[in-house]
Amino acid sequence: MKVLVLNGSPKKKSDTFRMTEAFLEGLNRNQDHDIEVVNVIEKNISACKGCFSCWMAGDGHCVINDDQNHILDSMCESDLVIWSFPLYCYSMPSHLKAVLDRTIPLVQKNMTTSEDGTIRHEALADLSHMNTFVISGCGFPDFEGNFEPLREMIRHCFCSSQMVCVPEAPLFNILEAASVADSLLEKFKKAGEEFSANMKLSDKTIAELEIPMIPKENYLRGVNTNQ
Ligand SMILES: Cc1cc2nc3c(=O)[nH]c(=O)nc-3n(C[C@H](O)[C@H](O)[C@H](O)COP(=O)(O)O)c2cc1C
Repeated sequence: MKVLVLNGSPKKKSDTFRMTEAFLEGLNRNQDHDIEVVNVIEKNISACKGCFSCWMAGDGHCVINDDQNHILDSMCESDLVIWSFPLYCYSMPSHLKAVLDRTIPLVQKNMTTSEDGTIRHEALADLSHMNTFVISGCGFPDFEGNFEPLREMIRHCFCSSQMVCVPEAPLFNILEAASVADSLLEKFKKAGEEFSANMKLSDKTIAELEIPMIPKENYLRGVNTNQ
């Protein structure tokens, strides 16, 4: 299958992308998928102008002539789009949010009531082949009270998607945490294999990936004493 990975971390050594790379390794273990990785920070992608010219033209493209149109084309051709990014202010980094905002050329002005009762714009074309998967790492040890705003946004923006939210992601840079970090990366590899076979993860697998690597108290102690 064709896989598009949107790497939304602005860092060269992304904590989140370590998990995504492990997931991709597992995904490719039994089948060779066609994987394109876009490092969004390196692309020229302006903010949406809000002009709605894309809806007038209705051709699935944006009137701003920058790198977003390639992403839109690549999305439409993909069977799986993986959004990999760190949690920033309970949401996604602004350069990646610009990519998300500028997916509106893929929908139309017409509004419709979806299965869950929310009002949505009708899709421009049948993109039912396109699955979405989100991997997000964050710096706080808490899952609750941290990832909820992002979860809601993802639920509304992507109709059929799964999401893995990983707290304590900076532990990937701590030598003393190598064993717990490596064990989580192994789980991501297995998850990639599972996804390749079923095009989704079980709730059990997602729950296992989201368990904090070390107890919250230890994490907080480590952060607060290493200043
Ligand atoms: C501008 C900014 C905002 C952040 N906001 C949050 C946040 O709301 N919640 C959180 O837990 N961590 C937050 N973090 C921490 C990052 O999510 C964390 O460092 C993550 O591991 C970075 O991942 P990356 O290496 O893939 O970029 C923030 C970091 C930055 C730089």
